Amino acid sequence: MNEFRYRKNTLCAEGVSVGSLAAKYGTPLYIYSANHLRRQYRALAEAMKDVKPLICYSVKANSNAAVIRTFMDEGAGLDIVSGGELFRALRAGADPSKIVFAGVGKTTEEIEYAIKQNILFFTVESEPEASRISACAGKLKKKARLAFRVNPDVDPRTHKYISTGKKENKFGLDAERTIEACELAGKLPGVEIAGIHMHIGSQILSVQPFAHALEKVKDICVQLKQRFPSFRYLDIGGGIGIKYRVGQQELLPELYARTVVPFLRKMGLAVVMEPGRFLVGNGGILVCRVQYIKNNAYKKFVVTDAAMNDLIRPSLYDAHHEIVAVEKTSDMIHGDLVGPICESGDFIAKDRNLPAIGQDGLLAVQSAGAYGFSMSSNYNSRTRAAEVMVDGSKAFLIRKRETLDDLVKGEILPVARRRGSKK
Ligand SMILES: Cc1ncc(COP(=O)(O)O)c(C=O)c1O
Repeated sequence: MNEFRYRKNTLCAEGVSVGSLAAKYGTPLYIYSANHLRRQYRALAEAMKDVKPLICYSVKANSNAAVIRTFMDEGAGLDIVSGGELFRALRAGADPSKIVFAGVGKTTEEIEYAIKQNILFFTVESEPEASRISACAGKLKKKARLAFRVNPDVDPRTHKYISTGKKENKFGLDAERTIEACELAGKLPGVEIAGIHMHIGSQILSVQPFAHALEKVKDICVQLKQRFPSFRYLDIGGGIGIKYRVGQQELLPELYARTVVPFLRKMGLAVVMEPGRFLVGNGGILVCRVQYIKNNAYKKFVVTDAAMNDLIRPSLYDAHHEIVAVEKTSDMIHGDLVGPICESGDFIAKDRNLPAIGQDGLLAVQSAGAYGFSMSSNYNSRTRAAEVMVDGSKAFLIRKRETLDDLVKGEILPVARRRGSKK
């Protein structure tokens, strides 16, 4: 069920009118539906209930504390990829024993920070990383748990930038090398081999790639289980695809579960999952206001106050987002929906039928809850958008719009250049 629906021709987020939120908080504005988030989490937990997974919400998808907290209240753990995400997670009240830490380039500082917090495990992407974690743990007189990430070399049939389990990708270890890497790491004093991890990509719409990947890690798990008494986790990553286009078939959690659960039951390991997009993607919209409508000899451009710095997915991945008017209209125009940034790549929709609303009208970019705000930037010195979470008939500002002072926070002029300096 979509929580962003028209009531009497005006778009509402659950029980709150989107227009009223735009008037109160300004635009561009991200709006999230708490009930969508909860429903997605519950649907996945229900579909996977036979293996009782620890569902670690992938914080990179949307790292707002209110979003993290909504999932934690449902019982979720967290999947993080940086010291910054660990900081956010702890600030939101996360239980470190439900945090897993991924990423190919963890620094010594990040590793020590996570070891001090006693997180559940690190997903480890190379032998040198395992050595570094062991050294950090030794220094802190602790033992860290490792789950080596296997690169199963399967094609997830998704955009090449979000494919992470093919041999040419930087992620994980070749399947053939995993046992040897674990044997070596098993001899390191500061770590124990706790499990295996895989994450083959994002926005995956069919079950086959998951099935292929699981098939490839099966023997590795069997062997490691025999060799290491500490081996107990199989982390199957995230990647479940959602519906971005009208008519697109999302990967239903029941279908996904029907493929992976029988396999996971046979493995007899504790299951960890890391969904991001599935949980938040369709739980958010980006509301923008039309500034100008201009024509050139070839096409029409609808220029809004949201740009690639607010939502980079169309520019980066050619991603498709449905665009709807906040006040319903059946009139359409054909053209590009663009932002004010000085790049031809700054577009939100290209060569599309768009709702025909005039200057100052409001548009909503749908399916913007995942990898929207979390990938936003200050490019062109644009302040980042405000974020609001709606829960039933209540709306909460969960991130203030940035101010001009926020833009320059942390900048320092060299002493010699300060105005009034005699040097
Ligand atoms: C290691 C890892 N786990 C989980 C995720 C979440 O993926 P998704 O949002 O597609 O579920 C990602 C996304 O890049 C990832 O890199």
